[in-house]
Amino acid sequence: MAATDLERFSNEEKRNLSLGGHVGFDSLPDQLVSKSVTQGFSFNILCVGETGIGKSTLMNTLFNTTFETEEASHYESAVRLRPRTYDLQESNVHLKLTIVDAVGFGDQINKDESYRPIVEYIDTQFENYLQEELKIRRSLFNYHDTRIHVCLYFITPTGHSLKSLDLVTMKKLDSKVNIIPIIAKADTISKSELHKFKIKIMSELVSNGVQIYQFPTDDEAVAEINSAMNAHLPFAVVGSTEEVKVGNKLVRARQYPWGVVQVENESHCDFVKLREMLIRVNMEDLREQTHTRHYELYRRCKLEEMGFKDTDPDSQPFSLQETYETKRKEFLGELQKKEEEMRQMFVNKVKETEAELKEKERELHEKFEHLKRIHQEEKRKVEDKRRELEEEMNTFNRRKVAVETLQSQSLQATSQQPLKKDKDKKNFFSLPTACSITSGRHVN
Ligand code: GTP
Ligand code: MG
Repeated sequence: MAATDLERFSNEEKRNLSLGGHVGFDSLPDQLVSKSVTQGFSFNILCVGETGIGKSTLMNTLFNTTFETEEASHYESAVRLRPRTYDLQESNVHLKLTIVDAVGFGDQINKDESYRPIVEYIDTQFENYLQEELKIRRSLFNYHDTRIHVCLYFITPTGHSLKSLDLVTMKKLDSKVNIIPIIAKADTISKSELHKFKIKIMSELVSNGVQIYQFPTDDEAVAEINSAMNAHLPFAVVGSTEEVKVGNKLVRARQYPWGVVQVENESHCDFVKLREMLIRVNMEDLREQTHTRHYELYRRCKLEEMGFKDTDPDSQPFSLQETYETKRKEFLGELQKKEEEMRQMFVNKVKETEAELKEKERELHEKFEHLKRIHQEEKRKVEDKRRELEEEMNTFNRRKVAVETLQSQSLQATSQQPLKKDKDKKNFFSLPTACSITSGRHVN
């Protein structure tokens, strides 16, 4: 089909036709429901609040069960995220619920970095999902989606205002997750104080530009209740797993010497409102918002960071293939440049080492020549000495022979001329002195 035909066809108004009888596609929503039920649902809650603020108690109260709880110590050196996943079933609906606790939140002296591990955890879950999406063989159908669908932010019931830690953390999280702020342990604050506290919190959130989750009002079926509930934010909640007898009914409550605070009594606290909004009315919207708003934002930023674009500089659509090719070329070019640099570096290094070796060789050679010269000099001196000694030895031997000859002559003379004995004896003893004067040297 030619491009112009295609354009004309897509611009044409679609015609409404009536069916002659029952065809069956009105069962599509039922098919969808049935498929979803078979598949099961996952829902992930992040609880952020100070240690001991009542996070675990509220989770137990919300889901009417007892999750594993482990008291956090106040001495954590940094905030740590602890996820726990549970399989829950109500009627025939399976829910894979993950509760993530921000352990040690608010316990450090320096709280500047407290938000960071939380942001990193949320991003890691987005990244895992993105990696699964980018795989050639994707299995999103049975992928365990760990992306955080809602962050319940537990505010300490001070009655004053939000702490800067609360504002900073919520600000850092608001583009990444649906935040529902709640005032914890609301039974510890009086009714009038609570009213003022709620107004203060909301005005602080607005003035600091913190975006909290708004219950959707575009679906007619829930628009009314949701807009009414938006006005009640932040919910002031009380949690308890204790059951107290009120009238002839056992209800979840907290018992005090002066009375009983009933968790599910709407005039006592907003627990029921929170449960309605979080679980019964807006759970699917929270999941959807996570996917279409927060995850989409993460994905877009991440892909743009990686160099992917939808349009080229002339606003023409840019295909994935083209982006891939451009990136590949860029990468190959860079690789070549790096290779060339490395090769050059290697050549330079070899040259440097070669020059160093040559210098060392020259030095060694010079040293060798010097030593050789010294050795030859020494050898010559020793030779001279040897020759001198030999000469002296010869002289000595000659003298010895002369002395011996003289001695034998004198002995002979003595035997012939006994009278001349004394004179000859005198000559004999004076002879070595005369000899040494003649040679001019001492024999050692
Ligand atoms: P960590 O996990 O150790 O940080 O504590 P947490 O935030 O999970 O608090 P947890 O639910 O363990 O509750 C701590 C204490 O607060 C317990 O003694 C609870 O009984 C009490 N508590 C919980 N919820 C409320 C509440 O709504 N009001 C009051 N007054 N006390 C509460
Ligand atoms: Mg806990």
